[in-house]
Amino acid sequence: MRLAVGFSIRRAGRAGDDFGLAECVIEAQHTSMSSVTPCRATATLFDLTGKKALVTGGAVGIGRGFALALAAAGADVAIVDIDDKVGPITAEEIRGLGRDSLYVRCDVTQREQVQAMVDAVVARFGRLDIAVNNAGIAILGADETLAQSDWDKVIGVNLTGAFLCCQAEARQMIAQQSGGKIINTASMSATIANCNASYDASKAGIVHMTKTLAAEWGCHNINVNCISPSYILSPMHASTPTVVRQRIRDLTPLGYVERPEDLHGPVVFLASAASNYVTGHDLMVDGGHTLNAWLVPLGRVLPPRVSPEQETVQLKHDLTVMGVPFDADGINPDLHPEIANAFKAAFGL
Ligand SMILES: NC(=O)c1ccc[n+]([C@@H]2O[C@H](COP(=O)([O-])OP(=O)(O)OC[C@H]3O[C@@H](n4cnc5c(N)ncnc54)[C@H](O)[C@@H]3O)[C@@H](O)[C@H]2O)c1
Repeated sequence: MRLAVGFSIRRAGRAGDDFGLAECVIEAQHTSMSSVTPCRATATLFDLTGKKALVTGGAVGIGRGFALALAAAGADVAIVDIDDKVGPITAEEIRGLGRDSLYVRCDVTQREQVQAMVDAVVARFGRLDIAVNNAGIAILGADETLAQSDWDKVIGVNLTGAFLCCQAEARQMIAQQSGGKIINTASMSATIANCNASYDASKAGIVHMTKTLAAEWGCHNINVNCISPSYILSPMHASTPTVVRQRIRDLTPLGYVERPEDLHGPVVFLASAASNYVTGHDLMVDGGHTLNAWLVPLGRVLPPRVSPEQETVQLKHDLTVMGVPFDADGINPDLHPEIANAFKAAFGL
């Protein structure tokens, strides 16, 4: 049988969902039958051109990485933070990529500020399509003596703050009637006992909150997912000693400490049409850290593809912009002394 295969491309969309507009349907036709195979061109799947986004905790670290990735994929991105010094600088960086951006000061634990923040983003951008709820803190210390105020602070920023943001963002997206993407930053600490109870519980809460909100808001075409990084050398980890960083590498099958840029692809995936049928998912991005703690005994240690110097490029950038001094490894034990002290105690340093 002679096959004359031809392709025609037409636009297709998901009813009521702006995220489907960039789809292409490639129709395959031949002489004896005609079939339609829905297939989007890869470039359009991940294209965020025209999308309007916000990232909380977007001034430095993981949030800055998320914001840069969304902007590089075409979105205008608002930087939401409480760091009035660095937030505007990161917004300026986004504008340097040719996208619109603004810095909005907002403490995510304050409901009124959160609503005002969403209103400010919509006033500037006209709408909200993508929201990344990433602001987070850790206060380490032995759980038997942890002050209740410290427990409250961590749960307040990491879990309550993310919930308040999800609420305000979803109200806006529901009103727009064109769907949306909400992405929360969880952690591998939601899955393994990795930090202390306040932090681990806040992140486990994020994962299950994400599932519940995904179930509730699916009818509005809002996808709610979360990303779980492992250890990232952000300012949060600037006080992590060198010996601990090596231990992390030893326990990670991919052999190096995660960098903010290792999350660029995952966040664009969850923000784009590529993930339209993914919701309520916790995307673990950990270099395999949670898979196997016995790499060294198994003799599976391979030369890393990323050097210790490359791991700290963004950390050193952030600390420089923050005006925080650091040593050759990008370490400043005074930035988060409780983290430095907890590691010292655990490793007998
Ligand atoms: N660094 C890691 O190893 C790691 C691993 C897994 C998950 N995470 C999570 O990733 C997220 C970002 O972490 P990071 O390492 O970039 O931290 P970071 O400390 O480097 O940056 C956090 C940002 O959040 C902002 N922020 C803090 N409290 C806020 C509040 N109340 N309202 C608004 N903004 C606030 C800070 O000003 C800062 O810009 C957090 O949720 C964290 O728990 C971090």
